[in-house]
Amino acid sequence: MLSFLLLLLVTTTASQLVAVGEGGNDTNGVNMKKCLDKERNALLLFKAPLQHPDDCLSTWRVDEHDCCKWSGVMCSTQTGHVTELYISGCSFVGEISHSLLNLTYLNILDLSYNSFHGTIPTFIGSLTELSYLDLSYNSFNGTIPRSIGSLRELRRLDLSFNSLYGTIPPEFGNLTNLQELHLDSVGRCRVEKVEWLSHLSRLEDLRMDGISLASANHWVDAILSLPKLTHLSLGGCELSQVMYPYSSFLNSSSSSSSISDLSLQNNNLTSSMYRWLLPLTSNSLQILDLSGNMLDGIPKYLGNICSLVSLDFSDNSAIIKFPDFLTNLSGCTSLTLADLIAYGSQFTGSLSNEIQKFSSLGYLDLSDNHLSGSISEKLWELPMLVILDLSFNNLIVPSTYHLSSLSYGKDIHLRSCKMLGPRFPKWIQTLKNLYRLDLSNTGISDTIPLEFWDMWPSQLIYLNLSSNNISGKLPDLLSNFATYSVIDLSSNSFNGQIPKLSSALATLDLSRNKFSGGISFICQIVDGWLEFIDLSHNSFIGQLPDCLWHFKDLKVLNLGHNNLFGRLPPSIGSLIQLQVLYLYKNNFSGELPLSLKNCTSLISLNLGANKFYDNVPVWIGENLSGLYFLLLRSNKFFGTIPLQLCQLSNLQILDMSMNNLHGSIPSCLSNLTSMVQQGGFSQDVQYSTKYLQGSYVDNAMIEWQGDEREFSRTLKLVKSIDLSSNNLTGQIPYQITNLFNLIALNLSKNELSGEIPPKIGEMINLEILDLSRNSFSGRIPSRMSHMSFLNYLDLSYNNFSGRIPTSTQLQSFQPSRYNGNAHLCGPPLTKKCPGDEESESPPIIGKSEGDGEDIDDELERWFYIGGGMGFVTGFWIACGVLLFNRRGRHAFFQFYDSFKDWVYVKVVVFIANLQ
Ligand SMILES: *[C@@H]1O[C@H](CO)[C@@H](O)[C@H](O)[C@H]1NC(C)=O
Ligand SMILES: *[C@@H]1O[C@H](CO)[C@@H](O)[C@H](O)[C@H]1NC(C)=O
Ligand SMILES: *[C@@H]1O[C@H](CO)[C@@H](O)[C@H](O)[C@H]1NC(C)=O
Ligand SMILES: *[C@@H]1O[C@H](CO)[C@@H](O)[C@H](O)[C@H]1NC(C)=O
Ligand SMILES: *[C@@H]1O[C@H](CO)[C@@H](O)[C@H](O)[C@H]1NC(C)=O
Ligand SMILES: *[C@@H]1O[C@H](CO)[C@@H](O)[C@H](O)[C@H]1NC(C)=O
Ligand SMILES: *[C@@H]1O[C@H](CO)[C@@H](O)[C@H](O)[C@H]1NC(C)=O
Repeated sequence: MLSFLLLLLVTTTASQLVAVGEGGNDTNGVNMKKCLDKERNALLLFKAPLQHPDDCLSTWRVDEHDCCKWSGVMCSTQTGHVTELYISGCSFVGEISHSLLNLTYLNILDLSYNSFHGTIPTFIGSLTELSYLDLSYNSFNGTIPRSIGSLRELRRLDLSFNSLYGTIPPEFGNLTNLQELHLDSVGRCRVEKVEWLSHLSRLEDLRMDGISLASANHWVDAILSLPKLTHLSLGGCELSQVMYPYSSFLNSSSSSSSISDLSLQNNNLTSSMYRWLLPLTSNSLQILDLSGNMLDGIPKYLGNICSLVSLDFSDNSAIIKFPDFLTNLSGCTSLTLADLIAYGSQFTGSLSNEIQKFSSLGYLDLSDNHLSGSISEKLWELPMLVILDLSFNNLIVPSTYHLSSLSYGKDIHLRSCKMLGPRFPKWIQTLKNLYRLDLSNTGISDTIPLEFWDMWPSQLIYLNLSSNNISGKLPDLLSNFATYSVIDLSSNSFNGQIPKLSSALATLDLSRNKFSGGISFICQIVDGWLEFIDLSHNSFIGQLPDCLWHFKDLKVLNLGHNNLFGRLPPSIGSLIQLQVLYLYKNNFSGELPLSLKNCTSLISLNLGANKFYDNVPVWIGENLSGLYFLLLRSNKFFGTIPLQLCQLSNLQILDMSMNNLHGSIPSCLSNLTSMVQQGGFSQDVQYSTKYLQGSYVDNAMIEWQGDEREFSRTLKLVKSIDLSSNNLTGQIPYQITNLFNLIALNLSKNELSGEIPPKIGEMINLEILDLSRNSFSGRIPSRMSHMSFLNYLDLSYNNFSGRIPTSTQLQSFQPSRYNGNAHLCGPPLTKKCPGDEESESPPIIGKSEGDGEDIDDELERWFYIGGGMGFVTGFWIACGVLLFNRRGRHAFFQFYDSFKDWVYVKVVVFIANLQ
């Protein structure tokens, strides 16, 4: 829904922006009266406190005397008075200046889409000529001033999308000329008595979504007294809490509403609502939204509304038999209904043959229900059907249909239905007008008939065959795809080389197959829109071709787990939008190209498990300042750790283990502020192209002493430093203990010496600490006994001495974690300290550890305990999992027509503050 709002915002703002500037010109040209000084001053005073006024008001200049020529200002040609003021979409912050009061002839005031704050000024009620007042999409708070009730000329009032609260003033009943009243998402407002509403006899459009009507008894009567009302939206109004929605006098049979568009979503309504819904519905009703309630069916009368075009019944939480639902709906409604949207409800039973009565149906979405049985052939005979989504049900898709006339059918989504056979459904090829096809996770175990790939020249926008067992080779894929299209063949058994590809692709996901051969095929994608390439987990071999300047829009490049080798090509520097570069587990070698420093959008850089041979470049710290994840592990990097890395203030995972680094650990690591602070990776990156819109999360992979695991959980809160298996010398800089939020620190297998900084005990979030196989000496700091989150500790093979501090914590680890320290004594070691004559082992409470427990179990336990914070951590991550986002998908379809806008928006990156 967020993307829906964003899209709305973007498109609307754009159009609003155009509105500014249309004002100032004189269309008649003759005998224009000049602007009055008093009003001109008022406008200048209005402008004065605004920040960056010239973004919108550059024509409002002191040396331009006629303010009627200023943008957004319209004057009366007869009197020169300012009559209209449009200052919309300018991002202005601040309060509205009092000076507006001097614009006494103002007719239209539009300040929408700014960030004006403070309360809505009471004086606005003195602008008595106003017929149009739009303050929507601002940050006004406080209550709605009663004085607005004095604006008796108002025909349109829009206060929606602010932060107001309190009661809607009953004085609104004085606004008898109102035709449109928009109070949706106005904040936390409520209506107490609805009497005022019934005075607004000219009202045509009323939107009050988000306003509580919980105590508004008899609201239905009030609505019915509005003879001109055609649009009523009462989403999220707590209607289920209204004690008496209508009066006993309501004579429902004689009332006739003229409402054509009625939204009652998210009200927790049960089917008792159908008693009061009846008088609100008539044969004017075209659009009805009952989504997000607890309805367990629909009454027959809804099936007899001969005008209904669209019914949204999504997200209802009561169980309903779908055949009964259809039967009740199949009066004359069945002839008019074009959209039946009912995803995420609790429909059971089969897709009954009754569906064939719905001859106007164009958009049918029953995804994410509990429908079962076989998909009826009758469905395909619906003459107008354009979009069909039956994903996430228990439906069976027959592999053959004896059909002839399947000319319609543009979008077919059958994700997670079961394909009978399990053959590839040939009947798909009879759908001549296919645009989007989703057969993912349908159990297909087959090859794809060659003709399939020639079926829809330049037409397919979306093809998802992922998570099946489809085998065979791919033919040339040059012709099927339309511009900016998505192809997802991941997690199958495709093999062979990739032949020619279409240039039109935006997303190419061939991961987790058995593809082989080189990857120079990507160079065929020229002038493309490509944003996402995932070729990981295949058997690709060869070099990364030097043609990457083809991909100016690329955001994700995942080539991990293949057999690619050679140097990275210089053209990698042209990927200036790249956010994720994942090359883990290949055989890349040589130096990193200097041009990589151009990739300043990088968030995650994983070059691990290759053969790169280079210094750790200083430009990583200097140029790639957006990095959250930096993984260079298991390569041949040499030299010292550059101090510039300390400038990566967002860095949460630093893994340079298993290289040939020498020198000391820089003390400036304490500058890695994200490891000091709470919270974590707060960027949700959404790629519009994958599954139309998926939300991207990283995929965590834990590699633990040869044992590799992958967890697809968010890494948002993981903070770790792994410098193990290098040749580092010197001491642990005491500054490292400032990294309060560090969760894992692995310095094992180096040549480090000196003592453990005593303040290590203050790193209370530390869960993993591995200092094994170094030359550390001295005593184990006693404060370590307070590190209550510590789940994995290894101090073995050093020169530690003295007694292991006594605490349940440190004694709970296996003795082997202290082995190889000749002078260490006390439990859990059997070696007694001098003076400990008797064997008095301290009590072991809580998580005691069986001797036979192996690393796996310990890791597993750590994983669950650590998981209490809502994540699974590891030192090592893999990237490239995109989650399927149902809501986003549906929001998308609502904007089916705005595909161009969508493409324009392409990637929405929004910051969600994780507190
Ligand atoms: C008014 O119209 C003239 C001629 O069409 C144009 O050059 C000028 O920029 C316009 N002024 C404003 C303020 O829009
Ligand atoms: C209205 O204009 C008069 C004359 O310019 C001025 O004295 C007065 O302060 C203005 N009122 C407001 C509210 O700005
Ligand atoms: C209203 O907003 C202003 C400025 O944003 C803020 O100072 C004030 O505390 C807010 N008032 C209320 C009641 O929320
Ligand atoms: C405006 O509304 C209030 C409250 O409903 C009412 O008492 C008052 O008489 C109305 N004012 C006018 C001028 O009609
Ligand atoms: C809806 O009803 C459920 C259970 O009756 C309740 O827990 C929930 O808070 C209600 N939600 C709203 C928005 O009223
Ligand atoms: C790196 O960026 C600069 C400027 O942004 C550009 O001129 C240069 O061509 C880029 N280098 C490569 C290898 O693309
Ligand atoms: C670390 O931060 C301190 C204080 O902000 C700064 O003076 C110092 O230069 C930084 N060190 C490095 C290596 O970035």
